[in-house]
Amino acid sequence: ADQQHIRNFSIIAHIDHGKSTLADRILELTHTVEGRQMREQVLDSMELERERGITIKAQAVRVPYTARNGETYQLHLIDTPGHVDFTYEVSRSLAACEGAVLVVDASQGVEAQTVANTYLAVDAGLELIPCLNKIDLPGAEPERVAAEVSELLGEPGDEIIRISGKTGEGVLDVLEAIVEHVPPPAGDPGAAPRAAIFDSEFDQYRGVIAYIRVVDGTFTKGAAIRAMAAGTEADIDEIGFFTPAMTPVDQLTVGEVGYLITGIKDVTRLRVGDTLTTKAHPATEPLPGYREVKPMVFCGLFPINSDEYPDLRDALEKLTLNDAALTWEPETSDALGFGFRCGFLGLLHMDIVRERLEREYDLELMATMPSVGFEVTLTNGDEVEVHAPSDMPDPARIAEIREPYIRASILTPKEYVGQVMELCQDRRGEHSGMHYLSADRVQISYDLPLAEIVLDFFDQLKSRTRGYASLDYELVGMRPSNLVKLDVLLAGDPVDALSMVVHRDKAYDFGRTLTEKLRKLIPRQQYDVPIQAAIGSHVVARETVKAYRKDVTSKCYGGDISRKRKLLERQKEGKKRMKQVGRVEVPQEAFLAVLEVA
Ligand code: GTP
Repeated sequence: ADQQHIRNFSIIAHIDHGKSTLADRILELTHTVEGRQMREQVLDSMELERERGITIKAQAVRVPYTARNGETYQLHLIDTPGHVDFTYEVSRSLAACEGAVLVVDASQGVEAQTVANTYLAVDAGLELIPCLNKIDLPGAEPERVAAEVSELLGEPGDEIIRISGKTGEGVLDVLEAIVEHVPPPAGDPGAAPRAAIFDSEFDQYRGVIAYIRVVDGTFTKGAAIRAMAAGTEADIDEIGFFTPAMTPVDQLTVGEVGYLITGIKDVTRLRVGDTLTTKAHPATEPLPGYREVKPMVFCGLFPINSDEYPDLRDALEKLTLNDAALTWEPETSDALGFGFRCGFLGLLHMDIVRERLEREYDLELMATMPSVGFEVTLTNGDEVEVHAPSDMPDPARIAEIREPYIRASILTPKEYVGQVMELCQDRRGEHSGMHYLSADRVQISYDLPLAEIVLDFFDQLKSRTRGYASLDYELVGMRPSNLVKLDVLLAGDPVDALSMVVHRDKAYDFGRTLTEKLRKLIPRQQYDVPIQAAIGSHVVARETVKAYRKDVTSKCYGGDISRKRKLLERQKEGKKRMKQVGRVEVPQEAFLAVLEVA
């Protein structure tokens, strides 16, 4: 299409406010996807996304739209994930757009990710199209929510479109607003070609599929291209756009969004954030890159069956091709054997990766307690990064430990302000600001250690505010803290996979709750198993798992075979995720006990 008739936009929203549903309606109403192929949320193509009802990977679809002025436009819709773990995907998608449809649930109102995503879009210089969604709901309060949105945007609320992604009401008005208000792409068709790789995917047979946004010039099938940062050179095997199916074309030109395949199988050679140009007419200036994503949360993944170690390595290699935010390095644990220390953006990301490894690669894994990464200055002046609590150097050698801090922005109805502040104080938070979004809704800011957020902060926040508060956060840097390593000993032996790093003031309470939890989780063995929590050689808490007295089957009356078999089966089931640690059998849950401790 000619440049004046292209519009590139994203849909941004707080989680569950209805992005994917709106995207579905747009595809349907523009006949991009016909009714019979229309599955709910066509854009959420991964099995896992569909099951959990969340969007993990951004998608980019070309949508033809004939506007009320009679002209046909080529819209590119870039769907983005809403969860705070995946903010980096949002900013990459936004960089490929000129506009963003801001979806706000009219029954819920402005939430933390509404605010965060709005700021991202405004920072990226995008034209915003605000919409109130779910107006079909009896509980919708469009007037109240419009006031919140207009407070957020600093604009009058009368331009806000009222829609229902469910019934389709107002959706065409959204497309009209896009055509009218979102500017066409600004690139130069005659300049040396430049395209930004804003996402990528890995196909087993075809190699890297780069999602690109052409900024200047034209890319043609067969042309020799060059990735400016990596220096990679290759020929374009196939170039095309998504409908959402991959549709090959001869060329993509200025402003267009689509994909490109070269046959390159090594993702590091065609990286997200790199700029593509052609060898025939090379550009000199690359486009601005993206901020590198750094994993924030780490855990060990170990195969239950140690023969599966090479398979786990293989699976991680494949997953990283599709997921730039996932990192891993070999880890050896005395307790769990050979495995990998993996880095994730957050707990949701960790959960998803683990589930994909088990489901798509048929592995059985033990996961150790998630922990944040630390920076340690040693007394000799050396700096080390510590990703596993068991790697924490001896306290005598440590001059300073730093941990990641985040700035949390919490939106809550004003009656819960006290509860929220209490929770934040309790989690070592430092109050940094408060702001009324409307007479009833307050935005509270706190600086908190990421470690305090990672575990159950979100659940606590939800339960203390009866589900009404929402949370967003960004990293603000590493700050020194008074941290200690808490070791756990089973039957007198330290279990490296159970150690953790905690704040000194909390170590006693933590140790006590943790040992209690472990006592309940570790099954009885043939002898008493003492469980101790210790800081160095100083034991801070102790519990004992008493030896069992009888075989479980002895409880059965003689002759009741089927009941006996059931019991044995249940016992076997219970053993499934067990690891022999020294003399003690430890179930998977024990390694995650910390998730329930705090
Ligand atoms: P993530 O992809 O997880 O970030 O969520 P999302 O923002 O894409 O939300 P999604 O489209 O999955 O919608 C969340 C829920 O709201 C689903 O149960 C939808 O069926 C429902 N929903 C979406 N739009 C509407 C609407 O206009 N009216 C009503 N009644 N329900 C809606």
